[in-house]
Amino acid sequence: MDPAMPDRRTMMAALTLAGRAPSRHNAQPWRWRVTEGAVHLYLDPRFSPFSTDPESRDASLGCGIVLHHLNVALAASGWATVVRRLPDASQPDLLASLRFVPHRATMLEISLRAAITARHSDHRAYPMKPIPSGYLSLFRERAAALGGIVRLVPDLDRERLAMPTGASLLVAGCDDRAMLTARAAHDGPIGSAARLSPTEIGSPKSGTAKVVDCAELFVAATPADDPLSRVRAGEAISAVLLTATNIGLATCLLTEPLESRRAFLRTETLGGTAFPQALIRVGWAPDTGPAPAMSPRRPIEDLLLPRVTDDGP
Ligand SMILES: Cc1cc2nc3c(=O)[nH]c(=O)nc-3n(C[C@H](O)[C@H](O)[C@H](O)COP(=O)(O)O)c2cc1C
Repeated sequence: MDPAMPDRRTMMAALTLAGRAPSRHNAQPWRWRVTEGAVHLYLDPRFSPFSTDPESRDASLGCGIVLHHLNVALAASGWATVVRRLPDASQPDLLASLRFVPHRATMLEISLRAAITARHSDHRAYPMKPIPSGYLSLFRERAAALGGIVRLVPDLDRERLAMPTGASLLVAGCDDRAMLTARAAHDGPIGSAARLSPTEIGSPKSGTAKVVDCAELFVAATPADDPLSRVRAGEAISAVLLTATNIGLATCLLTEPLESRRAFLRTETLGGTAFPQALIRVGWAPDTGPAPAMSPRRPIEDLLLPRVTDDGP
């Protein structure tokens, strides 16, 4: 094996761990080709249905996320990567090629690797507990380092976002004064100055329990909106998800609301300056009831493409 290459065991462990990456409908729309000196990431169009994802947006985001997960997993195992994104115009499904450089793992990389295993989508309502403002800066910083933009969605926009779909999780909020008091007692608010009406999840008509959700809602965006931007958006989203998990926060990624509200988010929330790619709910997990079960993944063997040559894909 090429000396500038993790051994097979390390590589398979890293690919398996990276496979914990989230994807829309848990489709895992990625494939890997391992050659003598590189690993190549492919989008698998079979898992990107034209009817619901005609531009392969969700699939590209998922591939960007798994790419970042792999970088984290390898870095924590002592291998930095040199990544070429969309390296071959004649192969649009080849999203990235990675080569390797020996590297001394940092504590941060080791923590983020642990976050890959710990992360899962948490669709529950999050309790009222402020998120320190410094964490938002950290999300922004880590997303920006990968070419992404992360903005808090103001409460007014959350209300308007949810209107056509009635997606209650997007508007649910805490009681104004209680939330602001709690935040003021911490190190400052990260949300907008005043929340609008608190929203209950659960329908009084159907008799389901009243639940108040205090998730913060972020929009992940990119300066452009092309296939490369979507891969980069996925990498930036992965950095936010793993950073939040490492802090102990619960997260949940959403793109379904963008299907009808992409233009609204672009013009209103982002002021026309960036292209929305996904929404991320972030908050503290409820401390009552069981945590959501981990979703399954396909075995890594099912995600490997055969080798073609030792030099390239
Ligand atoms: C690009 C993308 C879009 C997603 N959109 C939604 C969504 O609109 N609604 C939702 O409930 N979950 C959404 N998810 C979350 C996936 O359903 C979830 O990641 C997947 O089932 C795997 O579960 P896990 O995150 O717990 O590992 C999305 C995930 C990704 C990566």
